[in-house]
Amino acid sequence: MVPGKAWTEEYLRRTRDYFWDKDFIPVLLKFLGVSRARRVLDVGSGLGYLARLIESKARKAEEIYGIDLDGSLLRAARKYGKQADSIVKYRKMDASEIKFKDGSFDFVAAMTLFVNVTNPDEILREMIRVTGPNGTIAALEPIYQTDGRSEYMPGYTESEYRFMNKLLSRRKRAATFVKGSDKYVAPRLPNMFAELGLKDVKAKAFAYAHLQKWDENGYDDYLDYLRKRSMEMERLKDTPENVLDTLPTNSLRDAKRYIGITKRRADRILRNPAKYRSMIYSTTYTILAVKGKKT
Ligand SMILES: C[S@@+](CC[C@H](N)C(=O)[O-])C[C@H]1O[C@@H](n2cnc3c(N)ncnc32)[C@H](O)[C@@H]1O
Repeated sequence: MVPGKAWTEEYLRRTRDYFWDKDFIPVLLKFLGVSRARRVLDVGSGLGYLARLIESKARKAEEIYGIDLDGSLLRAARKYGKQADSIVKYRKMDASEIKFKDGSFDFVAAMTLFVNVTNPDEILREMIRVTGPNGTIAALEPIYQTDGRSEYMPGYTESEYRFMNKLLSRRKRAATFVKGSDKYVAPRLPNMFAELGLKDVKAKAFAYAHLQKWDENGYDDYLDYLRKRSMEMERLKDTPENVLDTLPTNSLRDAKRYIGITKRRADRILRNPAKYRSMIYSTTYTILAVKGKKT
């Protein structure tokens, strides 16, 4: 287990398999440009979600590794990999001391890793070291608009959610963060990439929300939640500027577009809730994707 951090298989499975918006994943992978990747490294791979997404698009991939510090997650990742007929290999390694030779990969990525570590610079340097010339380094990190709390936690009822948020705010800090980590690291990443000599640094924000299966019990609570959510979306359209002011304008436009989609979906469900009875509309959440090239 990573000190101070208890990522569980259950948490990662819920949030990754059900939570990530299926509409934005292809756009995201296209932005990252994974299709021609041959040698791939997923740093802080957890259950291997990102590694397997890349695998699904990188048709020429020869070798894909996932590395993580947490042995139990690595075991689970191998189990899911086997079920999915995946070629990804998993190794126990510290991201700040990657035991691969310089230039071993042409695509090195991390997902929600930087937000959880106390040494992002060191890790980024290691990611760059193991990337070969012209290789891509990428990070996908959340931009927190809600002080680190999920706006809606999948699998919980509205009242459980309120209770949990109360607990979290009582502790002042979201319990899910490693002490000393910077949960607002995402908007700094494009500059960090550039400062460490990467070229063609690009960032794109993906604000997303997600439909997922839900049991009948949570449904009425959920509709209430959705009504509020729909109003909030309207307001959210104006907020990313504060959060994303360090980013190029095209990223901001993308964020707004995705928020627009989110709101339209919410409205659609509210117009005909019966049709969506087994679905839940979950949180909005902004993921910042950053990529750069090693020269
Ligand atoms: C939020 S989880 C993300 C997992 C996976 N990337 C995903 O998005 O599903 C963060 C992961 O980083 C791993 N981690 C944290 N610090 C690490 C380090 N120094 N070296 C390797 N892995 C680390 C944790 O064990 C955990 O699996």
